[in-house]
Amino acid sequence: MNLSPEKVRQHAARLAEADPETILRWACETFAPRIALTSSFSGPGVVLAHMISRLAPETPVLFLDTGFHFAETLAFKDAFVKRFGIRLVELRPALSVEEQASRYGSDLYRRDPDLCCRLRKVEPMMQALEGLDAWITGLRRDQSETRAGIDVLEYHETPSGHPVVKVMPLAHWTRKEVWQYIMDHNIPYHPLLDRGYKSIGCEPCTRPVSADAGERDGRWSGTGKTECGLHTFTKRC
Ligand code: ADX
Ligand code: SF4
Repeated sequence: MNLSPEKVRQHAARLAEADPETILRWACETFAPRIALTSSFSGPGVVLAHMISRLAPETPVLFLDTGFHFAETLAFKDAFVKRFGIRLVELRPALSVEEQASRYGSDLYRRDPDLCCRLRKVEPMMQALEGLDAWITGLRRDQSETRAGIDVLEYHETPSGHPVVKVMPLAHWTRKEVWQYIMDHNIPYHPLLDRGYKSIGCEPCTRPVSADAGERDGRWSGTGKTECGLHTFTKRC
């Protein structure tokens, strides 16, 4: 990494209002080949995967295969990757679903969802970050209170002290702008988004919600949990 936290702040200020394609192009030119996008192939994830396929198709797109995804998510991901020529890399946890069940019980996601997310998402992501200087994600400020303060570029450190620049080209976009992009470019989107789901993660922890609910209200509903931990284990500097 050849950028200091101060330099990253300067680029963040310069790119604060830039369109997502400009931010993505700058990030890929600056950090390739040590840059990757993570996508769950739900709403915002497909927008960035589509932009990457046009601007920098050699950029890896990481999918965390927790073993608990909806069958619809896996089928949609495979079709999307094929259609747009995405360079997909699937990350898997150290323990299979069966190994986790025999060690911790089959419903760990109900009893201790933080531990389940840690084993199935956070640890594989931590490992992947050791080989990267920049990490592109689809987080937006309007998704939840916990995301309201994000910038388009942020300098972070992993728990091992490895520096990584988080690139969030959609930080300043609204849900409406995401949908406008999907419609304007005629991009296929996750089939459950037409069946009452607004944000889609693992099947045991995702519920359909009413039309007026917040975007992430159907995730871990009734548990008080709002984040899987993927976006809280690094420290912003
Ligand atoms: S989260 O709580 O699961 O992180 P959300 O679905 O809003 O929330 O995703 C936020 C960002 O986390 C996505 O833009 C993507 O970068 C990353 N992400 C979440 N789930 C996955 C997944 N299964 N594979 C890859 N990236 C993911
Ligand atoms: Fe486990 Fe649920 Fe987290 Fe998926 S979202 S890793 S099933 S707790």
